[in-house]
Amino acid sequence: MTDTTTTRGARRPGTDGVDSGVGLTALLVAAARAIETHRTDSLARDVHAEHFVRAAAPCADWPVRIEQVPDGDDDPLWGRFARYFGLRTRVLDDFVVRSAGADIRQVVLLGAGLDTRAFRLGLPSDCVVYEVDRAGVLEFKERVLADAAAAPKAKRVPVPVDLRDDWAAALTSAGFDPAAPGVWLAEGLLFYLPAAAETYLVDTVDRLTAPGSALAFEAKLEKDLLAYRDSAIYTATRERIGIDLLGLFDPGPRPDSAGDLAAKGWFTAMHTPFDFTRRLGRGPRPEPNDALEGNRWVFAHKPGP
Ligand SMILES: C[S@@+](CC[C@H](N)C(=O)[O-])C[C@H]1O[C@@H](n2cnc3c(N)ncnc32)[C@H](O)[C@@H]1O
Repeated sequence: MTDTTTTRGARRPGTDGVDSGVGLTALLVAAARAIETHRTDSLARDVHAEHFVRAAAPCADWPVRIEQVPDGDDDPLWGRFARYFGLRTRVLDDFVVRSAGADIRQVVLLGAGLDTRAFRLGLPSDCVVYEVDRAGVLEFKERVLADAAAAPKAKRVPVPVDLRDDWAAALTSAGFDPAAPGVWLAEGLLFYLPAAAETYLVDTVDRLTAPGSALAFEAKLEKDLLAYRDSAIYTATRERIGIDLLGLFDPGPRPDSAGDLAAKGWFTAMHTPFDFTRRLGRGPRPEPNDALEGNRWVFAHKPGP
């Protein structure tokens, strides 16, 4: 990708594959899901996650089982942070399955990365899962899944587009039907986007959704992201696997997307991850200087007809 500027924010330079930049974060989450999968008390299982990690050069020495991590659960990166991603996967799995009830036949994964919900979840076979991410990430994903002869349970439509561009046209051209209700996820995505792109995303989801649709997304509430720059999670991720999350997050002030959706008539509920740790009995717990402290999971529903 070349450096360009759009109306929705200045482009960062860099590749659009999984080898570096924001694309590499998709592999971080895949490695976390691989570890979660092999736990005896796993919150979510994803048998494909390990294949992605094994197929990508930058993570040749990353663990895929907690037994390969010397400090186990006490490790800030592959213990606590990976468990966070396991919890997030489980909670959003439950949200998608619950929301994709009798009437919903389309799911949109914004910033899909290496998400394999189309292969894992018990979705109706006539359900279509649209996977929106940048071309390089989706190409890597296709290659690994084809090599593993993985068969999706629902119809899967990759939509290669940059979410800082006019992705609504790409999604509808790929077959998404704005007149029918859908389930949308923006998991681990919004804080990488410029504020204008996040506002466009929320406006677009609202514009393209029929009554009865649902959206879940992750947000960070901190006014100053750098407040946690010395936290164990950010430090370990930066120093041990070279992913500087704070360098990848957009530094500008964030829009109030939950408030914006509520103003558009959506019902919204906001939770901390720790709410689900308590509910499910597993997952990260609060700690001092906690980079997860400001993380919020928002669940929104557009009232039905
Ligand atoms: C942390 S990963 C999360 C992936 C996936 N949602 C999951 O939880 O496994 C962030 C994803 O957002 C994608 N992403 C970030 N900025 C993007 C952009 N401007 N356009 C499209 N995708 C983007 C990255 O390529 C990456 O796959």
